[in-house]
Amino acid sequence: MEPGGVDVAVVGSVNVDLVATVRSLPLPGETVSAVGFGEFPGGKGSNQAIAAARLGRTVAFVGLTGTDPEGRSVRASLLGEGVDVRQVGTDDTAPTGRAIVLVDEAAENSIVVVPGANGRLAPAHIEGAGEVVRRAKVVVAQLEIPVEAVLAAAVRTTGVFVLNAAPARALPPELLERVDVLVVNEVEYEAVTGRPLLVGATGAPEVPAHLSLPCSLVVTLGGRGAIVLHESVLTRVSAPAVSVIDTTGAGDTFIGALADALSRGEDLPAATHWAVHAASISVGALGATTGMPGRAEVLAAIHRSGGKGVPTTPDLDPPRPGRG
Ligand code: ATP
Ligand code: RIB
Repeated sequence: MEPGGVDVAVVGSVNVDLVATVRSLPLPGETVSAVGFGEFPGGKGSNQAIAAARLGRTVAFVGLTGTDPEGRSVRASLLGEGVDVRQVGTDDTAPTGRAIVLVDEAAENSIVVVPGANGRLAPAHIEGAGEVVRRAKVVVAQLEIPVEAVLAAAVRTTGVFVLNAAPARALPPELLERVDVLVVNEVEYEAVTGRPLLVGATGAPEVPAHLSLPCSLVVTLGGRGAIVLHESVLTRVSAPAVSVIDTTGAGDTFIGALADALSRGEDLPAATHWAVHAASISVGALGATTGMPGRAEVLAAIHRSGGKGVPTTPDLDPPRPGRG
């Protein structure tokens, strides 16, 4: 990583989320009436950028929107969060990405993503943003954009490269070997490793310590927290018990907070502890980014959990305004 860069560069998708709340999710062939509806900023990449920015990091987002009003709206949302959007391009051949999100009374969700312009993000765009990626302390990517663009970002990274392998798919070896920290949920774990997450004698999920991955691994486990496999040592982090309204974006809050902590020099188990607590707060509100916490809220959650794992790094930089 070179001096003068942002703390976190996120390369990924940006969507408008069309969120309908329903009493229960429709079965195949069934039509149900919504009890509520709202539009929210979304997309895994944009969500992760916003999560890291709320926690005080300098963040740049690299992505693509359409030339439509939705594109201007998501750009304004990122800018309003202090994210540098100078590397957000526009494509006049595709609309801004959208996600149709259903959330039921039990906080179960079901999501259909319409990639739109996200599907057009190409290695050439990443090349154009090369300096931002090259100079960032932490670079984060997900799989809602073409894998060639993710690889182009990995190749240019000189800091820590974090890959959130979501949505689930097998990874090309040339990408995996450039990853420093791979973050997956239980479904994605199976897609990436080709085997299901094992359950140990205690009923707790297990990751074999000899798993042959060329990188560190974090598996998020929803309300059960996360497991970290780092330098052959397995660490479990429990999530605090919270009231859940909508888990959409919980994984993204986790990634943004993990990137925040890694960019401050925390080690991976400590960063995971921080990320678990940040993500547990995010599930308390409707909309992917609505419940994303600031630093003080995460510290308060850690204190409520007994105070172990308070970060050792000071919050160095106050948030800086984004650039449009
Ligand atoms: P999503 O796709 O819904 O954004 P995900 O499947 O990527 O989420 P999860 O493993 O479900 O990721 O959750 C990520 C993190 O969010 C968990 O590690 C935990 O910190 C927090 N979290 C999720 N659900 C709960 C819950 N019910 N209670 C407390 N924390 C939760
Ligand atoms: O991870 C949650 C996100 O996935 C939503 O905001 C939606 O846009 C989809 O990309």
